[in-house]
Amino acid sequence: MKHLLTIEHLTAAEIGGLIDSAAALKAERGAHATQPLAGQTWAMIFTKSSTRTRVSFEVGIRELGGSPMFLSGNDIQLGRGEPIIDTARVLGRMVHGAIIRTFAQQDVEDFAKMSGIPTINALTDDEHPCQILADLLTVREKLGGWEGKRIAFVGDGFSNMTISWMWAAKHLGFDLAVACPGDYSPDAQFIARLNAPNITITPDPAEAVEGAHVINTDVWLSMGQEGQAEKEAAFGPYQVNGELLKAAATGHIVLHCLPAYRGKEITEEVLEAHAGSIFQQAENRLHAQKAVLAALAR
Ligand code: CP
Ligand code: NVA
Repeated sequence: MKHLLTIEHLTAAEIGGLIDSAAALKAERGAHATQPLAGQTWAMIFTKSSTRTRVSFEVGIRELGGSPMFLSGNDIQLGRGEPIIDTARVLGRMVHGAIIRTFAQQDVEDFAKMSGIPTINALTDDEHPCQILADLLTVREKLGGWEGKRIAFVGDGFSNMTISWMWAAKHLGFDLAVACPGDYSPDAQFIARLNAPNITITPDPAEAVEGAHVINTDVWLSMGQEGQAEKEAAFGPYQVNGELLKAAATGHIVLHCLPAYRGKEITEEVLEAHAGSIFQQAENRLHAQKAVLAALAR
């Protein structure tokens, strides 16, 4: 693995290896035998807001011996129109790796190609691979693994989170049921490319949650979609609430990548009842990303 740009292009073995490594790094936090990023500087280019991703990468890089350099998209020339391919060729000569949060997936792909340094996708409009690795670690910790489990995703069916979950399900083979409004479901071209019989898409949230061991949700309006009232209005029936969860399997967990909007995609009551798994999921960002950093360090 040279970069982490998508879940789509990982193998099941690579995903499993990263989760094993994340669990080991979590267990030995504060006492790592090696410092794989010693002497290295990793740039973090963010053109969207972040709490968890930014903090977990900054802490994780330091804990592995390296130095993070946070570069807000607005503060560097990228924000004034310098092309990503030029930014990539400059940074590639100065830093040892890059972590990018932005809009277009193509920008992350171009940066990886042109910089020549390990590049990590810290969220684009198309994928959020770091989040899925943390989510899978949480599922393994809470439920012993994803084998034979039914996982439901209720919300935007064609967002970065659902797309990454769909590729994870394709690679790992667990049942994934996505409940979303018809206008916000994956398009036919994507479904054909995915070609995964273990993934179902339904407009009915109750059908998706029936017997589910894990119920996931995410914001209805992703970053960059603020103010899209028509889109938001379509999601009213897709709230994860106590009534919906009655159909879930006994011992189910609820996950939310956060930030959460109480009273919209999830109720206050459900969020607080499942805060144990949701904030463990947030913590696992640190451990999962340290596994990625260690795997990519050269
Ligand atoms: N889940 C997640 O990526 O959170 P941030 O936007 O706070 O980084
Ligand atoms: N789908 C959300 C995820 C936030 C972590 C967004 O892109 O805003």
